[in-house]
Amino acid sequence: MPGLTAYAGLFDVASFKEGDGVFVSGAAGAVGNQVGQMAKLKGASRVIGSAGSDEKVRLLVEEYGFDAAFNYKNGPVAEQLEAAAPDGIDVYFDNVGGEHLEAAISSLNVHGRVTLCGMIAQYNATEPTPAPRNLAMVIGKRLRLQGMLVRDHEALQPEFVRDVGGWLRSGELKYQETVVEGIENGADAFLGLMRGENTGKMVVSLTR
Ligand SMILES: NC(=O)c1ccc[n+]([C@@H]2O[C@H](COP(=O)([O-])OP(=O)(O)OC[C@H]3O[C@@H](n4cnc5c(N)ncnc54)[C@H](OP(=O)(O)O)[C@@H]3O)[C@@H](O)[C@H]2O)c1
Repeated sequence: MPGLTAYAGLFDVASFKEGDGVFVSGAAGAVGNQVGQMAKLKGASRVIGSAGSDEKVRLLVEEYGFDAAFNYKNGPVAEQLEAAAPDGIDVYFDNVGGEHLEAAISSLNVHGRVTLCGMIAQYNATEPTPAPRNLAMVIGKRLRLQGMLVRDHEALQPEFVRDVGGWLRSGELKYQETVVEGIENGADAFLGLMRGENTGKMVVSLTR
């Protein structure tokens, strides 16, 4: 499911094309790391990811082949993104919302595209969250922001299995899972996901 979300969100929703510069948030998570790797495999000019620890940032560059990555807890997202993408970005894959979305709108080039996949930064908000303060830039830059649900993209399964199956077999596409043992630990695993304790897909194993 996370793989198809990445595949559909990047190629279908964001209309990714060779040479695009791509930024993905939540980049060390289940969906995000796949987005970055798939973009590289399909000829992105530059792939940038953000994540919540220096260890995850290292993983993105050293293991997954991102061109640049930053820890969003180390400073303002807009400044870190601008430094990582001096020529701007063409696609933003949003797993986080909030400050990340606002920063991406500032860095997007004319005719840029945004896949609104998740907004984890506001899932626990107790009041309505403010919109990006720079939303008016969407007009001048002629940006396209589009929400997605993976269940609308089932028709892509044959292509997805062909491409991703091939990349997995050849070792070009990597993935990690964080496995928590036992259903009794399911709630803690879920809370851990919200705190960034997972790398790749958070899985609760019921085998024991
Ligand atoms: N639209 C769809 O059909 C669809 C399908 C699947 C998933 N999603 C959404 O896509 C996003 C990614 O899903 P996933 O399964 O790949 O989850 P995930 O990225 O594996 O796990 C969530 C990650 O979000 C990060 N996070 C938590 N709070 C944050 C905050 N306040 N600001 C920034 N990052 C934060 C944490 O990593 P850090 O350590 O980096 O903070 C955490 O590891 C989620 O928003 C999910 O709801 C949507």
